[in-house]
Amino acid sequence: MKVNGTHYRSLWWDEDKGALQIIDQRWLPHEFRIQQVDTLKDFADAIVEMRVRGAPLIGATAAYGMALAARLDPSDENLQKAWEYLDKTRPTAINLRWALNLCRGHLMPLAVEDRAEAALRLAHEISDEDVDINYNIGQHGLEIIRRIAAGKSSGEPVRILTHCNAGWIATVDWGTATSPMYQAHDNGIPIHVWVDETRPRNQGVLTAWELGSHGIPHTYVTDNAGGHLMQHGLVDIVITGTDRTTRSGDVCNKIGTYLKALAAQANKVPFYVALPSPTIDWSVSDGVAEIPIEERAEQEVTHIQGLTPEGTIGRVQVTPNGTPGGNPAFDVTPNHLVTGLITERGVCKASAEGLAELFPDLARLAKSA
Ligand code: MRU
Repeated sequence: MKVNGTHYRSLWWDEDKGALQIIDQRWLPHEFRIQQVDTLKDFADAIVEMRVRGAPLIGATAAYGMALAARLDPSDENLQKAWEYLDKTRPTAINLRWALNLCRGHLMPLAVEDRAEAALRLAHEISDEDVDINYNIGQHGLEIIRRIAAGKSSGEPVRILTHCNAGWIATVDWGTATSPMYQAHDNGIPIHVWVDETRPRNQGVLTAWELGSHGIPHTYVTDNAGGHLMQHGLVDIVITGTDRTTRSGDVCNKIGTYLKALAAQANKVPFYVALPSPTIDWSVSDGVAEIPIEERAEQEVTHIQGLTPEGTIGRVQVTPNGTPGGNPAFDVTPNHLVTGLITERGVCKASAEGLAELFPDLARLAKSA
């Protein structure tokens, strides 16, 4: 997507420098900073500190991390060490382990001297594939938005609510939840997006920044506003992303998604989740019982970051001294609250049957593993 007229992916390989470039998301929307990632520690820190974030982007970053490890020392021992080091950076988004497993499984059978080049090629392929997948998610989601638009009088926008940032900077490009929005807008379908702020880290500001840069009308609302908006008939559809989807269609996404799904069901608002197939964890069935939920630092809750009147980025404390903060970063929305899953192969029911029908090859592969 474009930033100030220039097309960017959220990460890219600089051939001249022989290094990965990322957008350091901690400073958005106020500063657009590009950073070079050079060491394995840098890769791990970038994921842990959420300079890069969003399930698909974490996966792509980890693949470049494995490529760096293969360049420095392509031995079995070193690749395994890198796998373990990167795997423990964030526990919930399954794309991380998916990418690490893909890289390890691809590289280990190769001759040691061929691994560095193969690893970099694979990281490029994972990134390019993510862009294609997300474009296709947008194509399928676009049809859902088009159907809603057909029931409205001309010029009346389709009102979409989204939570967190499942946008282009959470992926390599296009985003998952945002891809249908971009494509609807580009196809002349009027839309308006309610953007949840998404405390504690306010990923909603990233979504607002993205949508604003693309000229899509949107309004930034508090996390607690969603129920009220739905109750008053102001939301036509909810679309969110997911960090891990079970084989039975439970979805684990940013904390607060579950409450939106409950409000959507109570108000008969369709609740869709957009996901690339690498976000499906075929080894897990019951999301509530089986998905590890990342617990992040309490300072993310007790403090808040923003632009000061002086124009610098600052952090202030919002709680009384000594009040502890609790910070579960994700929650699980059970499949019965999800109207449908928007994937690169089409839209399916959030159920074991729905996913197995769209992805028979992946379901079979997982069974035989
Ligand atoms: O903690 P984050 O910001 O990495 O969480 C991101 C989300 O929850 C997204 O909705 C999810 O990763 C899907 S991104 C296409």
